Amino acid sequence: MIDPQTQSSTLIIPAVHEVPQHIAMIMDGNGRWANARHLPRVVGHERGVAALRQVVEACMRRGVRYLTVFAFSSENWRRPEDEVSFLMGLFIKALEREVRDLKANGVRLRVIGDLSAFSKRLRDTISRAEQATAENEQFYLTVAANYGGRWDILQATRKMLDQHPELAAPGRPIPEELLSPHLSMNFAPEPDLFIRTGGEERISNFLLWQLAYTEFYFTDCFWPEFDDVQLGLAIASYQQRERRFGRTSAQVAQQCSVPVS
Ligand code: IPE
Ligand code: IPE
Ligand code: MG
Repeated sequence: MIDPQTQSSTLIIPAVHEVPQHIAMIMDGNGRWANARHLPRVVGHERGVAALRQVVEACMRRGVRYLTVFAFSSENWRRPEDEVSFLMGLFIKALEREVRDLKANGVRLRVIGDLSAFSKRLRDTISRAEQATAENEQFYLTVAANYGGRWDILQATRKMLDQHPELAAPGRPIPEELLSPHLSMNFAPEPDLFIRTGGEERISNFLLWQLAYTEFYFTDCFWPEFDDVQLGLAIASYQQRERRFGRTSAQVAQQCSVPVS
């Protein structure tokens, strides 16, 4: 687990690397990619899995350590039943097909979200894939499924209060470092770069807490067409940003590390 005292962007000023160490991605635009080709939406989802495979490899080659992708939001249950059930089936197939290569390539896979809503078959497949890759530490691939940023903050709050009932006393301040260990991403530094494909410029209830100081990048490219070249453009844009974390440009230039109080 990450120590919030040494990693949180609101408690300290995090180290900034030339290559983002953690990228969070909303893989959006599968349906519109398919529609534009007069194909069923689900073909877009299938192509989306192939794109993810390539993007994982591209991230590893470029020196990224953590990739966290949004695969299914807590609001995606609102979609037509046949699309939802296709996505569930695709998730099982993709996990079964990819687990061997993930394991061989040093990738640790985690799935975050409220998994209790999934079928037993899907939950078992997820837990087998997580166990098979649990020893890996070269690259951390996290798939958010039935995930919602609000759900995450609320479930973490519940766990924190179960562990520290005294915090429920009226007026008692809640230190950030007592909440963050219970969030789903407690094992990772906060994302440096957030990428959303498909042209929409919104968070759609993704990592609300963790994106506090993340750099945002939006592209019209539909997810099935996102590749190493597109990733390079996003990283190049990130490298132009000045990450101030509340300080002035002059302070950043002097590498001034004012402790946050
Ligand atoms: C993202 O693509 C994949 C999921 C949400 C599962 P979409 O299915 O949202 O594609 P568009 O946005 O309708 O084009
Ligand atoms: C966000 O995409 C969720 C995923 C990519 C899994 P959506 O397509 O569901 O988001 P909205 O509804 O356009 O905000
Ligand atoms: Mg969409």
